[in-house]
Amino acid sequence: MILLLLLGIHTASAVLAPCIELNDGNTIPVVALGTGRGTAKEGESIDEVRNAVLWAIEAGYRHIDTAAIYGDEPQVGQGIADAIAKGIVTREQLFVTTKLWNDKHARHQVVPALRESLTNLGLDYVDLYLIHFPVALKSDGSADNIDYLETWQGMEEARDLGLARSIGVSNFNTTQISRLVDHCRIRPVINEVEVNPSNTQEPLVSHCQQLGIGIMAYSPFGFLVSRNRPDAPPPRYDDPTLVAIAQKYGKSTGQIVLRYLIERGLIPIPKSTNRKRIAENINLFDFDLTAEEIYTIGQFNKNVRVIEIPDWQDYPNYPF
Ligand SMILES: NC(=O)c1ccc[n+]([C@@H]2O[C@H](COP(=O)([O-])OP(=O)(O)OC[C@H]3O[C@@H](n4cnc5c(N)ncnc54)[C@H](OP(=O)(O)O)[C@@H]3O)[C@@H](O)[C@H]2O)c1
Repeated sequence: MILLLLLGIHTASAVLAPCIELNDGNTIPVVALGTGRGTAKEGESIDEVRNAVLWAIEAGYRHIDTAAIYGDEPQVGQGIADAIAKGIVTREQLFVTTKLWNDKHARHQVVPALRESLTNLGLDYVDLYLIHFPVALKSDGSADNIDYLETWQGMEEARDLGLARSIGVSNFNTTQISRLVDHCRIRPVINEVEVNPSNTQEPLVSHCQQLGIGIMAYSPFGFLVSRNRPDAPPPRYDDPTLVAIAQKYGKSTGQIVLRYLIERGLIPIPKSTNRKRIAENINLFDFDLTAEEIYTIGQFNKNVRVIEIPDWQDYPNYPF
């Protein structure tokens, strides 16, 4: 079951996020640094990920989220190595998540794909390995017809080998989660999905939580930040409702949205390569939102996704 340890720990220079317990007994910090580069600005080099990871660990982050498809596992690994070399953390104090890409879904491809990620990261194991999408692709990007139940058997092998301490999924819908739980030997610990004020995902979140499966919330800022979408629904960063709540606690609207996700028992994954915003995004543990404020933020929901992949919508196992 998921056990929430309520208090974050503040030291002079760092804020440590509390941990929750996963259904396999391992624990996971409730804030992760996002390193996916979907929002990278023009001119933002991939090398900035290395500094971002180091700055995050200095600020107190102990959980880093990456993926084979981001192409930044070497930079993540270098940032981790820098932090360890500086004596800020040991490997055991960190929680590293990476993900299997869609073109390696055959059972026999999973462990070699994870070994390649480990080589890129310069690590012996990851704390969490996720199937990135339930959709399988051929190497040319066209649809493949591999059942994610087969892929999951490869994931179970990766855990048996100790290459991944915990295993889970990403972008699985309620039907896919139920089918996986009904047929697996090892239950997934996490489903990493999009959750933010415009896409609150109550049914999927409560379904997973009832099954003892935690939720990592990607794109946590939703449309608060620019997504270059003319149809973007509210709220934006300067939304008056969010600004009023933020002023009450002396926080930014971004911090209010991240705290809203934590109050729901979720693990937000804010991405930033800016040192000040990285520190801001983990400074979330000296206030609580009221039940009414959590309800109010939930009322922004429009079920509108930041991440949609229309090219795959006719492919087997498309989840959205
Ligand atoms: N599993 C999946 O399929 C999946 C899909 C999408 C994302 N993810 C993961 O989730 C992470 C986050 O999602 P995301 O990258 O879509 O979006 P996000 O974290 O919601 O937003 C990132 C954007 O917000 C800006 N930002 C960060 N902190 C801010 C603050 N305090 N105030 C104002 N602006 C701020 C960042 O700019 P600066 O960098 O300049 O601060 C960046 O432009 C990804 O990096 C990835 O690790 C996973």
